[in-house]
Amino acid sequence: MKIAVLGTGKVGSALGEKLASAGHHVIYGSRTPSGATETVSHRDAVESADVVVTAIPGTDVITTLETIGADILDNKVVLDPSAAFTPQMTMAYPGDSVAQQVQARFPRARVVKTLNTMNFTIMVDPMKSLVQATVFVSGDDSDGKNLVRGLLKDLGWPEGSILDLGGVETALATEHAAPLFFATLMALQTPKFNFTVSQ
Ligand SMILES: NC(=O)c1ccc[n+]([C@@H]2O[C@H](COP(=O)([O-])OP(=O)(O)OC[C@H]3O[C@@H](n4cnc5c(N)ncnc54)[C@H](OP(=O)(O)O)[C@@H]3O)[C@@H](O)[C@H]2O)c1
Repeated sequence: MKIAVLGTGKVGSALGEKLASAGHHVIYGSRTPSGATETVSHRDAVESADVVVTAIPGTDVITTLETIGADILDNKVVLDPSAAFTPQMTMAYPGDSVAQQVQARFPRARVVKTLNTMNFTIMVDPMKSLVQATVFVSGDDSDGKNLVRGLLKDLGWPEGSILDLGGVETALATEHAAPLFFATLMALQTPKFNFTVSQ
């Protein structure tokens, strides 16, 4: 599968490397394409991709996608692991989520929120650090969610650890788990943990 990873920071690099090692063709979109292999402009990265990963600050996702152009995003799966904070590190969109905003602004894109409730090291190798783990998935498009399920398995998530919460409106719940994430990080003094749902 051809995957455009927007953002070359911690999340983009970790996801890109693991997905490439699983056999996917990963192209990195950057604000400053370096000329290095597979690092191109956002638009060039997305143009021929099947999946777009928004590994950039949540408050910049809409403007970045708008610059790329709505027509280019038609039918593409947008895998959104972002979180949106104010400069004071409070939630940027109270009562709303990045994923809902993206889906509303780009109705023909297939937005799937996932991987946003954990540190980037856990995203790509959950079972190395954890005995049990849960990764949440939110989105309106069932084909898009199935495609993302496949990518999550490539990242190391067992089928039973993937919890589909329902439509894109449920992304609000996971995006707003960020304060719980940071409080837990402070309490444990390590990012190597994850929230697990058990029944
Ligand atoms: N780090 C984590 O463990 C973690 C966990 C869960 C969720 N997240 C979320 O995942 C996203 C990426 O996090 P990260 O830790 O990878 O951040 P990061 O290391 O700071 O990297 C973010 C990348 O986004 C791009 N970027 C920065 N400012 C931008 C702007 N104004 N417009 C467009 N692109 C911009 C940059 O890539 P270029 O310079 O190549 O453009 C940058 O390297 C964020 O939304 C974050 O909240 C992070």
